[in-house]
Amino acid sequence: MARLLVTGGAGFIGVNFVHHWLAAHPGQRVVVLDALTYAGNLKSLEPVRGRPELRFEHGNICDTERVAALLREERLDTIVHFAAESHVDRSIHGPDAFVETNVVGTHALLKAARTVWIKEQGTAAHRFHHVSTDEVYGSLEADDPAFHERTPYAPSSPYSASKAASDHLVRAYHCTFGLNVTTSNCSNNYGPYHFPEKLIPLMIVNILEGRALPVYGDGRNVRDWLHVTDHCRGIELILARGSPGEVYNIGGGQECANIDLVRTLCGIVDQRLAADGGLRERFPACPAARGERCESLITFVADRPGHDRRYAIDCGKIERALGYRARLALDAGLRQTFDWYVSNEPWWRTVLDGSYQSWIQTHYSPVATPASGVARTTGPS
Ligand code: NAD
Ligand code: TYD
Repeated sequence: MARLLVTGGAGFIGVNFVHHWLAAHPGQRVVVLDALTYAGNLKSLEPVRGRPELRFEHGNICDTERVAALLREERLDTIVHFAAESHVDRSIHGPDAFVETNVVGTHALLKAARTVWIKEQGTAAHRFHHVSTDEVYGSLEADDPAFHERTPYAPSSPYSASKAASDHLVRAYHCTFGLNVTTSNCSNNYGPYHFPEKLIPLMIVNILEGRALPVYGDGRNVRDWLHVTDHCRGIELILARGSPGEVYNIGGGQECANIDLVRTLCGIVDQRLAADGGLRERFPACPAARGERCESLITFVADRPGHDRRYAIDCGKIERALGYRARLALDAGLRQTFDWYVSNEPWWRTVLDGSYQSWIQTHYSPVATPASGVARTTGPS
């Protein structure tokens, strides 16, 4: 029976992982540690609120002492580390937070794990799983082979550079201190609870609202899309059967140019609204509500600086070693994701109009790094 600390468990992938884990492993302790930045959302944990296995802890991963205390108090033996600043565009405008959380924060967690699991308990029965990205490998040309686990690191953005640094620290704690670590480098995820600043949820929300769909550059940048549930299953397999010190790439094998993806989404919305008068009434600003094509909203805008041209993942290692296979095809996954956003309109409306942030202010005090001296509170007031 594993006892998990899930960092960033109120963010997009973390919360999907928590839902997945609680459904698949009832009775196993799950402690979520999350600072509730703009990307963390307690409302995403609502469906599992009240589960006796689950504890939510409002805190910062940079707080080594707090993390060490949690590991002791809850007798946790597994860390699944999702917490990060994760948006490339934000890392261009403000890289500091990325170095703080992704590099310093990951190191703070590693220190806590080493202190409790190795120095104090001297036990091999622990696991630190680090959730990372394919973006550490840099950019591929159209005919380059896909990234594999030995592809040299060549990050282009402050985000990917900070994730690369964290990957190296995780590896170093294994080689130097014997920490039982595993790392997964995953391609672009999509699915429920995705903050609407990333491509797919942003496009869905903008289409429904009749707003411009900003496509960077020529729209021919390629990403390898993976439904978040398939990512969670990959992590679950690594926790169960992955070997200490190993790195596993996880991908969907579903490369798609941004412009093609946006056109596919537009086509899905055209179809859905054409077939459903209720949706036409709910989203009157959507072109499809007037029988027009949603593609009319596509607007090419200035390119992102340092924009990686193509990502593609070779996930042969995890397939061979652990029997992993992505299950959800991109088209089916996009339809499911669109339906989720339509069915969960209050979720994205509160995120977008800022009322979530004011709701959170009334429930929680600010959490900052220990050095800043800002008071920390735990749990809803
Ligand atoms: P996200 O931005 O949606 O969520 C991040 C979560 O971490 C939020 O809940 C936030 O409140 C929390 N957090 C941020 N700073 C914190 C801190 N200092 N202490 C505690 N909590 C903090 O991110 P995501 O898309 O869910 O990504 C999760 C992980 O997966 C990240 O490590 C990211 O690098 C990696 N990843 C993401 C993708 C993707 O497509 N989204 C792909 C591959 C890997
Ligand atoms: P994003 O979802 O930010 O993920 P990442 O940069 O980590 O791959 O972006 C996915 C792709 O979509 C990327 O090539 C940038 C592009 N993009 C746009 O064209 N317009 C947008 O508004 C956004 C957010 C992204």
